[in-house]
Amino acid sequence: MKILVVVLMAVTWAELSGALDNGLALTPPMGWLTWERFRCNLDCVNDPYNCISQNLLMQMAELMAEEGYLNAGYNMISLDDCWLAHERDEQGRLQPDPDRFPSGIPALANFVHGKGLKFGIYEDLGTKTCAGYPGVLGHLQTDANTFAEWGVDYIKLDGCYSSQEEMDEGYPQFGMYLNNTKRPIVYSCSWPAYQNDPNYTAIINSCNLWRNFNDIADSWTSVTTIIDHYGDNQDVLAPLAGPGHWNDPDMLIIGNFGLSYDQAKTQMAIWSILAAPLIMSVDLRDIRPEFKYILQNQRVIAIDQDPLGIQGRRFKKSGSIEFWLRPVTPVDNDNHSYAVGILNRGDSTPTKVIYATLKEKEG
Ligand SMILES: *[C@@H]1O[C@H](CO)[C@@H](O)[C@H](O)[C@H]1NC(C)=O
Ligand SMILES: *[C@@H]1O[C@H](CO)[C@@H](O)[C@H](O)[C@H]1NC(C)=O
Ligand SMILES: *[C@@H]1O[C@H](CO)[C@@H](O)[C@H](O)[C@H]1NC(C)=O
Repeated sequence: MKILVVVLMAVTWAELSGALDNGLALTPPMGWLTWERFRCNLDCVNDPYNCISQNLLMQMAELMAEEGYLNAGYNMISLDDCWLAHERDEQGRLQPDPDRFPSGIPALANFVHGKGLKFGIYEDLGTKTCAGYPGVLGHLQTDANTFAEWGVDYIKLDGCYSSQEEMDEGYPQFGMYLNNTKRPIVYSCSWPAYQNDPNYTAIINSCNLWRNFNDIADSWTSVTTIIDHYGDNQDVLAPLAGPGHWNDPDMLIIGNFGLSYDQAKTQMAIWSILAAPLIMSVDLRDIRPEFKYILQNQRVIAIDQDPLGIQGRRFKKSGSIEFWLRPVTPVDNDNHSYAVGILNRGDSTPTKVIYATLKEKEG
């Protein structure tokens, strides 16, 4: 997998208007999320180092600030499922598990802010979260207010235990309540991932980013399945993306167990061509240096964060070779520059195809 930048003739890259305008996520969000690596590990007795707890978040926040991730652009850290207590408090508000978050969420948010990072949290639109903790349904306004009071800057709202109708009504409503709090909060929706025929007009009106497809798992098969989904459905999906509103192919699994060095570079490159949120889920305490280097690669991140915010496309497939193109700055008259990703999914090195295709497309 190689990324190079060449100037090609202008192509028409349609963009939709009428998107959520809260001034946030003008480039794809970058951060760190607990889920893919730490899941719903509740066992702080036998596995205190890896359980979902305030300690885990604080350690990761410190490492993000100290180890160059924040400087590279990863400016948010977020809890996923399994931070909650099983019951709401006496006033009907959400509360964290008292053993694993003894200082409470506002203190944790303060700590994270003190490291120069934004603080993210997870909830679910339904009656329960996917792991069975209290969901927001029936408490939309209370919970939006609670998050704002706690100092939350980013919320991932999952879609388990809710119907199509509840989602179509609830996601915009929760967005409205977030807006009413006056606190800038990036709104990440799982809405389309739970529907067969999502109403993207409504979705881009309400959400800063949205999951379209299956959860990522720690494997190359999972990564290629996701890449194929975004390539096969690009005519629907690519035009939805733009500053403030992004398709989310799910977390970066770089640095975990399932990807080789080259496969990790491929995820980073294709996610950047896709203008995808770059949300790591990896143990920053023991990540190998070569994976850290991929995650912090400034030239690839610059492609992901290109201010035009145009999602790239799978431009051509030739046998096992795929060509991915993304229009980026600088723009000279009507000529975009392009980031080019060349993905070889075969076992050999068919250089001839690559040069022939690039030559054919050169301006
Ligand atoms: C609320 O919505 C208005 C109108 O779209 C927008 O201008 C404003 O920035 C939003 N405020 C917040 C805090 O999201
Ligand atoms: C999709 O959402 C838009 C905006 O909320 C709405 O006007 C439209 O009727 C919806 N379309 C369908 C098919 O429900
Ligand atoms: C694109 O760039 C070429 C080469 O610099 C130039 O000849 C052409 O006029 C440009 N096209 C437009 C539409 O500006």
